[in-house]
Amino acid sequence: MVIRSLGGPQKIAVREIDPFDEPLFDAWYAVLRDAVLADSESAIVTSHEAMAFALRELPAAKKYVAVGAFDGDRVVGTLQFEYRIEDNLDTVEIEIQVLPAERRRGVGTALWTWAAGRAAELGRTIFQTEFGAADESAPGIAFATGLGFTVEHVEDHLVVPLPYDEARLHQLRETAGEHAGYRLTSWAGPCPPEHLQAYADLRTAMDQDVPTGGMTHENVPWTVERLKINQERMDKNYVALVTMAHTTTGDPAGYTLMWLPRQNADHAQQDDTLVLRDHRGNNLGTHLKLANLDQLAKHRTTQVWLHTWTALENTPMQKVNARFGFHPVERWYELELSKV
Ligand SMILES: CC(C)(COP(=O)(O)OP(=O)(O)OC[C@H]1O[C@@H](n2cnc3c(N)ncnc32)[C@H](O)[C@@H]1OP(=O)(O)O)[C@@H](O)C(=O)NCCC(=O)NCCS
Repeated sequence: MVIRSLGGPQKIAVREIDPFDEPLFDAWYAVLRDAVLADSESAIVTSHEAMAFALRELPAAKKYVAVGAFDGDRVVGTLQFEYRIEDNLDTVEIEIQVLPAERRRGVGTALWTWAAGRAAELGRTIFQTEFGAADESAPGIAFATGLGFTVEHVEDHLVVPLPYDEARLHQLRETAGEHAGYRLTSWAGPCPPEHLQAYADLRTAMDQDVPTGGMTHENVPWTVERLKINQERMDKNYVALVTMAHTTTGDPAGYTLMWLPRQNADHAQQDDTLVLRDHRGNNLGTHLKLANLDQLAKHRTTQVWLHTWTALENTPMQKVNARFGFHPVERWYELELSKV
């Protein structure tokens, strides 16, 4: 499909790529990686292996489509087009990247036109996109708002260097005191069977509690079965490091989750941290994170940065992150466009 040529030397053609066509997939992935890294030093690019896995292994819950913008034979831009199959049936998630030297000649718009067309075929009307940028003057914001997207949620992207500073860890342990009334359990990889139900319930509570601004999202409760499938998939490319808190009478109270990408030499990611409402105010968030940092020390290989993302308005988590030495490197923007 030829979309348009805006003053470029050749027309831009947009087409879905076959992820099993190795040279084509490699060229597409290289453009994606280079375009992302050109804009942000702090960006984490999904590894080649993890991207290939997402596109090649047929997932039960989500469909991933890779699309390229071509100038002749050359890939100049990429579109990741994703949609959930069993829930959130009105929504598609898109990510568009264009090589810096190829911008402002309609490549991004051509990829967007493809996305809008495929979404219409699927009967989906809500478009969501998210990306990191220094501030609202970034090209992605101008491009997306020009198409009608609005910024619905903003998070700080924060980092702390690894190996984690032992002196700070010591000081945090000293000031955190005892976690009286709770016991902590840590694991690396899939959740032990005896904790699956509690972990699934905590993940559901997290989805309900985490601030997402004005983004449309239908929360689907985590069942043990869904969790097992998700863990099996994730484990191919990431080691999950989890610490969970129970009361001494056995009720789940919270958890924290970190990801160590198997193929990403530099970056580890601090993901969810949840303390259930009834258990807040006991410094449990700090104790959970301390225990999981002990796990990180054991399992870390070459990673030199631990990343996390926290909503600007999430004051309690911002405070905990600051105490742990995280500092902001950029913002994470979530945008939505509804065509109804
Ligand atoms: C955002 C991005 C995809 C735009 O790609 P592109 O090929 O330059 O987009 P187009 O040439 O089709 O631009 C379409 C319109 O977007 C707006 N736009 C794009 N880049 C802009 C910039 N740097 N400043 C202001 N407006 C901009 C303009 O209105 C432009 O139309 P115009 O050139 O006629 O003025 C590209 O800059 C990029 O890859 N950025 C990094 C990744 C990113 O932020 N992706 C988010 C996309 S959802």
